Amino acid sequence: MSMKNKKILVGASAGISIYKTCLLVRLFIKQGVEVRVVMTENAAKLISPVVFRSLTRSPVYISMFDSEEGLEHINLAKRADVFVLAPATANTIGKIAHGIADSLLTTIILALPEKTPLLIAPAMNDNMWKNVFVKENIAKIRQRKNYYIAGPKTGVLADGTEGEGRMAEPEEIFKVVKKILENEKKRFKK
Ligand SMILES: Cc1cc2nc3c(=O)[nH]c(=O)nc-3n(C[C@H](O)[C@H](O)[C@H](O)COP(=O)(O)O)c2cc1C
Repeated sequence: MSMKNKKILVGASAGISIYKTCLLVRLFIKQGVEVRVVMTENAAKLISPVVFRSLTRSPVYISMFDSEEGLEHINLAKRADVFVLAPATANTIGKIAHGIADSLLTTIILALPEKTPLLIAPAMNDNMWKNVFVKENIAKIRQRKNYYIAGPKTGVLADGTEGEGRMAEPEEIFKVVKKILENEKKRFKK
């Protein structure tokens, strides 16, 4: 199935694996996907929004209150065929699970129509991933309709130790999104 002209919103929170998100965005762009990137303020401290702006040749959204339009979050949420949160930090996962909307990214996720698939790619230290509260938060998010998860994987983590918490590779996330879009197409044909 062609992904051309599909609209994908990529949300990036402040995990070190955000560098992999650049590769993921490139994979989408190569397929003719219309990609918009939303970052948390903390994510923009790890990597410059200019990188995503250049890759997508489109504005990058960070702040809730600097848009002329004011209701940008609702429009972005409405337009998306899929929302991909990669990396999904423990912090942002916690906020989603509790319906917290204190940033543009978390507000968009909360405003995302239920029919719009939400794919999250958690990435964190293995102690964080094993933490009982993170587990509870993931279990809560699973209650959402059209929820998908990619990873995390076991392997070498950013601190050099082995464990479960590595973000899924861009190619894998890409494949999951492709599948989601294919299934959506079938669903709407019925
Ligand atoms: C260099 C660096 C790497 C980090 N990597 C991660 C990570 O992979 N996963 C995670 O959950 N938190 C990570 N953190 C901690 C988060 O950035 C921190 O919890 C932050 O509050 C998350 O904000 P956000 O969820 O709003 O983006 C990292 C912090 C730093 C400074």
